[in-house]
Amino acid sequence: MSWPSWLPLRADLQNLSPYGAPQIDGVIHLNTNENPFPLPTEVAAAITSRISEVAKSLNRYPDRDAMALRTKLARYINGLSHTSFTCDDIWAANGSNEILQTLLLACGGSASLVLGFTPSYSVHPLIAQITGTPWIQGNRTEDFELDVESAITKIRETSPKLVFVTTPNNPTGNLIPLSHLRKLAESAAAESALLIIDEAYQEFSTEDSAVTLISEFANVVVTRTMSKAFAFAGARVGYLIARPELVHAMLIVRLPYHLSAITQAAAEVALEHQEQLQAEVQLLISERERVVAGLLKAGLRTIPSSANFLLFTGFPQSSADLWQRFLDRGVLIRDVGLAGYLRVTIGSPEENDQFLAVLEEIAA
Ligand SMILES: Cc1ncc(COP(=O)(O)O)c(C=O)c1O
Repeated sequence: MSWPSWLPLRADLQNLSPYGAPQIDGVIHLNTNENPFPLPTEVAAAITSRISEVAKSLNRYPDRDAMALRTKLARYINGLSHTSFTCDDIWAANGSNEILQTLLLACGGSASLVLGFTPSYSVHPLIAQITGTPWIQGNRTEDFELDVESAITKIRETSPKLVFVTTPNNPTGNLIPLSHLRKLAESAAAESALLIIDEAYQEFSTEDSAVTLISEFANVVVTRTMSKAFAFAGARVGYLIARPELVHAMLIVRLPYHLSAITQAAAEVALEHQEQLQAEVQLLISERERVVAGLLKAGLRTIPSSANFLLFTGFPQSSADLWQRFLDRGVLIRDVGLAGYLRVTIGSPEENDQFLAVLEEIAA
């Protein structure tokens, strides 16, 4: 788009388009890695009831530091990882995208290089650009693995201030073993760099969370979200786990009262109903394996996934062609810009049946 001369948009942003996947009505949505299951009625009712209490005091600003929510998030992580984090080790915001942006506002900028290994979550370089932080591109292998030794060499050669890794990785689904993350943390520490480990899909993985590295390495930050396993994408709640000094740095750059009283209340209720909200995670994992089998049966290949989506390849058409064929048959999947690959989110069993039926029809 060409911008009018009266609009003083930064020169380095003028060629960008807004980030986002197509939102199309009347099709099944297997394109944004959401959890397909609606909230159980009793959890939705508990949220409504808490919000109607909170509504009476919406004349007041919310708890600026979201202490109750951060305490509950710390408890949630401690329950999963046998750690002893408190609210001082947690920061929460409107989705983990905001967490990532806040991190770069605090620690990025023109004097701080940020290194990432692609293909990975495309919002990482976008946030780098928006915060004016020079991005250095590292690569994954042909099979999309993160080769730890070459990653360490890249860290040593480029001396970044921030290093992004994603595990399980989006859009490829594969994970980085904890032993490799430890080596990366060591290597980043030698350069006085933060290692930002994006664990948006951690609950779908069998690998331990990297939060256990934080007591060993002050430079490790783990970012997570309630959008996926908690089926809470619409509420917009993300958080990070890190040393208290880093959390304090977040307080410097966050906007005052950034997390509304309604969001905080809803997220607290969701955490109180963790088991009910995550009840379908195992089903999604077994559905993932069923979809893998269907893709293999159609003569395609998948990247081993520890997340709620699959990257697949081996089709004769271009990615754009096959994407369109799925859409024409009512199934919206994601063309992630990797030639010869497409990504499908694991949906409900019925949605997956529909995806597999279309696949069979197209492959026939
Ligand atoms: C790797 C990764 N990180 C972060 C996010 C952002 O999640 P949210 O802002 O919904 O918390 C996503 C969303 O798809 C993701 O794939």
